[in-house]
Order: sequence, then structure tokens, then C-alpha cells
Amino acid sequence: MPANTIDHNRTRYNFDGIDSVWLFGYGSLIYKVDFPFLEQRPASIRGWARQFWQGSHDHRGTPEAPGRVVTLIEQPGAVCRGMAFRVSPNVFEYLDVREKNGYLRFSTTMTFDDGSHAEGLVYIATEDNEAFLGEAPEADIAAQIAAAVGPSGPNSEYLLRLAESLRALGDDCRHTFSIESHLTRSGPVEASDS
Ligand code: SIN
Repeated sequence: MPANTIDHNRTRYNFDGIDSVWLFGYGSLIYKVDFPFLEQRPASIRGWARQFWQGSHDHRGTPEAPGRVVTLIEQPGAVCRGMAFRVSPNVFEYLDVREKNGYLRFSTTMTFDDGSHAEGLVYIATEDNEAFLGEAPEADIAAQIAAAVGPSGPNSEYLLRLAESLRALGDDCRHTFSIESHLTRSGPVEASDS
């Protein structure tokens, strides 16, 4: 899979005749909502775990010093909590550009807090994409995040804002919170609003 997924995503779904689509966000899509939406609801998906295993060469790092951002890894029994947005299909023209560094749109079933379900889409960076970095000790992931900066800002801001949003959603994402505590232990870092 090439690093730039824009063209590939455009061929994946035909939105003809569809007024709105549910999008499940589990990373920056939770806290950086720079796209229009019709409705927003906390939700979860089953069988997937959030992991800081995707490299970021374009947003939170550079090709020479990539940052680390989240993707989803299949894990039986796992529950990933996030935010669902009901969006107009044309919003994917923007989102495909934003998520172009390795993420493909997949169908998923999301469960809302009242137990109801909806089918929708989720962006996942699979292991065969060029920017995939894979597993590493959480202390090493924190050190890489502490050092990386890209056009969208410091990688630490991505981590800290995500951790803050997951806390607000009542999520207990051990992986994210463990990397956050390694990072904050190693020196003062603050999540900015940019
Ligand atoms: C997401 O937030 O759902 C995808 C990953 C990201 O953009 O951080």
C-alpha cells in the first residue's frame, strides 16, 4: 500500500443516493473536529485495539524523524471507545486528504452508549502501508513522540490531547495512558490548543 491513500479511498465506496454516513473516530478525529457533522455520539467498536503503531511523516513528524500516531489492530475481545460523527458523504473528500498517510476506510459496526448500533466507516492504517512502524516498548514510543514535530505541531500534543479526550469519554485506554505517563515523567510537556 503506497503512503498516499487518497486515490485508493476514493474507489472504495460508492456514496450515490446516500445522505449521511457514520464515521467512527478513535484518534485525532475525536479532538480535532475540523469538518462539518450532522450529529455526534460517543461510541465503541469491538475486536480492535488502539495502538501508536503508525508512523506520521506528514502531520506529527517528518520523513527523517517520523512521529507516531494511532491505528487500530485486530484483537479479539478488545473494545475501542471513540466518537462517532454522522457526516455528509462529501466530507470524505476532505477527510481522505487529512488521513492520507496510510489510512484506508473500512466498514465497521459501532455501538452507541444506549446499546443501539450503526454501520459506518473508520480509517485504519494497516500493517502493509509504507508508514507503518509496528510494535515497540511503550517507553520507546514515548521517547519517539517527545522528539517528533511536524507541520501539524508537536507529536506530544497529539498524544496529550488524545489522552485528555479519552479521559473525558470515560475510556480506560491503558496503552495511551501508559505512553502519556512515560512522556510526562521524562519532562514538562503541555497540550496546546493549536
Ligand atoms: C482517527 O482519529 O479515527 C484516525 C486516526 C487519526 O487521525 O489520528
